[in-house]
Amino acid sequence: MRTDIVHPGADKLKYEIREIVAVAKRVALSGIPIIWENIGDPVAKGETPPTWIKEVIKNTLKEDVTFAYSPTKGLDETRAYIAKERNVEGGIQITPDDILFFNGLGDAISHVYRNLNPHARIIGPDPAYPTHSSAEAAHANKPHITYRLDPENGWKPDLVDMEKKIKANKDITGILIVNPDNPTGFVYPQDTIRTIVALAKKYKLFIISDEIYSNLAFEGSGMRKLASVIGNVPSIAMRGISKEFPWPGARCGWIEFYNRSKDKNFDRYARSIVDSKMLEVCSTTLPQRVLPKVMGDSRYYPYLAGRTRRYEERAGYAHKMLSKIPEIIVHKPRGAFYMTCVFKKGSLKKNQTLPIRGDLKKFIDSCLKNASLDKRFVYYLLASTGICVVPLSSGFNSSLQGFRFLLLEQDMERFKKTINTIGKAISEFVAS
Ligand SMILES: Cc1ncc(COP(=O)(O)O)c(C=O)c1O
Repeated sequence: MRTDIVHPGADKLKYEIREIVAVAKRVALSGIPIIWENIGDPVAKGETPPTWIKEVIKNTLKEDVTFAYSPTKGLDETRAYIAKERNVEGGIQITPDDILFFNGLGDAISHVYRNLNPHARIIGPDPAYPTHSSAEAAHANKPHITYRLDPENGWKPDLVDMEKKIKANKDITGILIVNPDNPTGFVYPQDTIRTIVALAKKYKLFIISDEIYSNLAFEGSGMRKLASVIGNVPSIAMRGISKEFPWPGARCGWIEFYNRSKDKNFDRYARSIVDSKMLEVCSTTLPQRVLPKVMGDSRYYPYLAGRTRRYEERAGYAHKMLSKIPEIIVHKPRGAFYMTCVFKKGSLKKNQTLPIRGDLKKFIDSCLKNASLDKRFVYYLLASTGICVVPLSSGFNSSLQGFRFLLLEQDMERFKKTINTIGKAISEFVAS
């Protein structure tokens, strides 16, 4: 090309959760069946969306208007439904005008960072959900700035670390939280959110709260949305139906702007996000038409409660088994359907191995040139057992060494077997 056509932030775009699929497919070619524990898709892991939800979708498809564009911000009646639900919960009150629909929350995340001034930085958690950390890093063409989620303290955010970084870096203009968190399953206590809101107020920042798992918090987790404590701080809450319905293939998510009128600069930024969405015309209509009918159905919340009970049961078993291993730190999640193991300092070393067949060993070693030690464990686990998890350091932009797996397996016996195999592999690997 006579001019460089590559965006300066291109190298920052990383999504190891899916990149590992190609490696797993190569392993499968050698006759090793893969147990997919990498992508958080309940349907791909065998969950069946309830028949009554499918009926609602079928009936909605009978109406021609379902095939039409929707308004840029989203269907009026759907936004009115969401605003009403939000306001009934208490906390900040919004109008349908404060809601903007996207083709999945991934699309929303991309718009939110893409439209920020390149100098404005958002500090996010470590470990991080990579769509946020990559999009933020690419927008600034600099490494993503993080605050620590502390594995020694049940994954609570290190707020001293957060304030120190905010103070030191004047470009930090926003704080991201993911609640319940991916990959840790941590649920922010309301007091912690309050302190983060107070920090935002003190340093004139805005907050982004990714709440895609908010309806999948476990019973008794104390889950409270940002809206409950936000006061007058400008912010963006993010929601979606991918995990809840579950319907990730619908590509439907939305953002809620809080306190647009409280800050002119934030209001202008919010308008730029709406304008950039307008260039794309609108988001998918079918899931928006379905949303109020499904969420407003009396079967919806009992259905979600049944699912979270299953996840909690799996989390309990995994915690019981894996917490016996002295070389790792593991906490029971309080929401979502992920769990993370962290290797204690010094327990991973170069050259640790698991038994792998000769032909695969060459391939796996060729994938691991200059790789982090947790990635080495993950690839050896994959080639040795067929279990496909995601390394923490490269997969979740983390300074920690570890890996994430899912709580989505339908068959409890199969889940137990997977966990037991992971546990055995960890012990073997660290002892090798
Ligand atoms: C924290 C978080 N935010 C956003 C997304 C993206 O969701 P969507 O399917 O709506 O794009 C995910 C998907 O895994 C997620 O875990």
